[in-house]
Amino acid sequence: MEHDTPTARRAPDERPVVFLTRRLPDAVEDRLRSRYTVIPGDDARPVDDALVAHALESADALLCTVTDPVRAAAITREPRRARIVASFGVGVDHIDLSAARAARVVVTNTPGVLTEDTADLALLLLLMTARRAGAAERELRAGAWKGWRPTHFLGTSVHGRTLGVVCMGRIGLALARRAHAGLGMRVLYHNRRRASQDVERSVNAHWCATLDKLLAESDFVSLHCPATPETRHLINAARLAVMKPGAFLINTGRGELVDERALVQALDAGRLAGAGVDVYENEPTVSAALRERDDVVLLPHIGSATTDTRVAMGMRAADNLDAFFAGREPPDRVV
Ligand code: DGY
Repeated sequence: MEHDTPTARRAPDERPVVFLTRRLPDAVEDRLRSRYTVIPGDDARPVDDALVAHALESADALLCTVTDPVRAAAITREPRRARIVASFGVGVDHIDLSAARAARVVVTNTPGVLTEDTADLALLLLLMTARRAGAAERELRAGAWKGWRPTHFLGTSVHGRTLGVVCMGRIGLALARRAHAGLGMRVLYHNRRRASQDVERSVNAHWCATLDKLLAESDFVSLHCPATPETRHLINAARLAVMKPGAFLINTGRGELVDERALVQALDAGRLAGAGVDVYENEPTVSAALRERDDVVLLPHIGSATTDTRVAMGMRAADNLDAFFAGREPPDRVV
């Protein structure tokens, strides 16, 4: 793919200007500062259309994160100086890719480097939800623990149960590996296209041609799809009704995949036993209906939040910028 020569608009001795929406790990900011003029990020200010438009107008590159909306209005506003949006994260649903394509703005992401940590977090949610760990810890911290007793905080055994992976890409497969090898779980998965035999054999996974079949047979359903118009509310009231009674839903993908109201209703009705959630429909707002429940474990979108991974994500974003400004194809070009 071609992009405008990145040096065309600057004097040859000028360093490209990179606008950060947020603070990044020190090692990443140090690396960026060694090659670019960096406009520092700020975790306290809202990132809205006006800020993004200002960034695109004043810098050669925007380095944004997965919750910063980069909408058509900001991309198409002239004059625009930036020719690249390097996103810190794998999901690109916050960026209007068609507008970027039309405006010949390059978009990159950071795939691969957050796979294992995000799969760990999905497993953490699965175990915490099944074993009621959030509610149990809250009881202890509240000073309400009355001591060991045979009927106290009975959860659900995980070992040997069935895990249904919806969208088995990198992260789904990494979770399947943990479930198969570590917990002796039976693994089902649903993708539009069946995975290779090697992939299936590596975790003894069985393909379900329909999502409903997977939902009907799984004790734990874990979502790993990208957010697109097609996957919005993939798990809605009708799909929740198909799930095995007493099953658990785990979402580390995107909030938009689940109709949260329908989820609360399914939990109220006792249809589902619980849910483990890291991503929400209206982040960072989480509905009181979810927050007040004891049968859900709620985390604040921390799937990739380890120092190792956040540094790796930043370095990957920097690799993409370096390639772009050297006139090479960025390794993780999406558009
Ligand atoms: C991503 O990269 O899309 C994640 O949601 C960040 O953890």
